[in-house]
Amino acid sequence: MIEVDGLVKTFGGVRALDGVSLSVPGGTVLGLLGPNGSGKTTTVSVLSTLVRPDAGHATIGGHDVVDEAERVRELVSLTGQYASLDQALTVRENLTMFGRLTGLRRRDTAAQVDHLADTYDLGEFLDRRVGALSGGMRRRVDIACALVTRPQVLFLDEPTTGLDPRSRQAVWAAVRGLRAEGITVLLTTQYLEEADQLADRIVMLGSGRVLAEGTPGELKARTGAAVCEVTLAAPSDSERVVAALAACDLQASVDGAAGAHPVVRVPAADGADTLRRVLDVLAGVEFIDAGLRQPSLDEVFLSLTDTTRADA
Ligand SMILES: Nc1ncnc2c1ncn2[C@@H]1O[C@H](COP(=O)(O)OP(=O)(O)OP(=O)(O)O)[C@@H](O)[C@H]1O
Ligand SMILES: [Mg+2]
Repeated sequence: MIEVDGLVKTFGGVRALDGVSLSVPGGTVLGLLGPNGSGKTTTVSVLSTLVRPDAGHATIGGHDVVDEAERVRELVSLTGQYASLDQALTVRENLTMFGRLTGLRRRDTAAQVDHLADTYDLGEFLDRRVGALSGGMRRRVDIACALVTRPQVLFLDEPTTGLDPRSRQAVWAAVRGLRAEGITVLLTTQYLEEADQLADRIVMLGSGRVLAEGTPGELKARTGAAVCEVTLAAPSDSERVVAALAACDLQASVDGAAGAHPVVRVPAADGADTLRRVLDVLAGVEFIDAGLRQPSLDEVFLSLTDTTRADA
């Protein structure tokens, strides 16, 4: 549904996109992951015809985003990084305005507004002014507005940044619902966990280039698995613990400033099974905290940039 080949976009001296290629099959969710300034919004802007690329091509449903921009606009919808609602209007008025502006009849718009209010649980604040809503509610209204015209492809630019866990869950549920309806979704995010939860495939951007792509599982496998972390109660135990783990083929490292509780780390190649083995070895040793920690986006990103360099 989305085909991108060698996109380049320069703003002044900044190469925002430096040859980005990607492909999204219809009815799937692509997570575009990357740190600030990596080119996520620029990619979405080119694909939604808001920005013309300097070089490269992109098509949506087979239509070129530059040469057939109008046709592409009929297929796509965009929820930008910053909410684009009219604060002075109510939720219902905003939804209705989007429907009417995009050419829906009055009666069809009203039916769509009712349907979306139902789906996104907006009923309670349908007649409240958007300016009086919380950030999470606004985000849900924003997404609903993008869906008034039932697009085939939806771009969501950082849909959950700044939301509390509950609102984030609501947006995640919305994205899963869209996928179930067969809508192709490209969402940008800075959260590995979010891409992991929602995306069929992930493309990782850094400085306008694709650093890696694959299913969430494939990318995690490249980065190395989770780490077991055990925080010991007594600093004097750490040497003994590391030796005992080594005797069981578990390579541990210890972290912790003088006087602080030492943190013992063991790469958890087998996930929870490794944690169980570590805790078996620690029987009788007093600890404050123990758990499995997944690699953070930073670690994934750093490891991928390192791999890229090693490959080059
Ligand atoms: N209109 C513009 N004018 C000048 N520079 C721009 C413009 N839009 C983007 N850039 C630059 O292009 C680069 C990529 O920006 P982009 O907004 O695509 O990043 P992003 O991945 O969306 O970042 P964020 O996570 O902060 O939203 C940045 O260096 C940015 O400063
Ligand atoms: Mg952005």
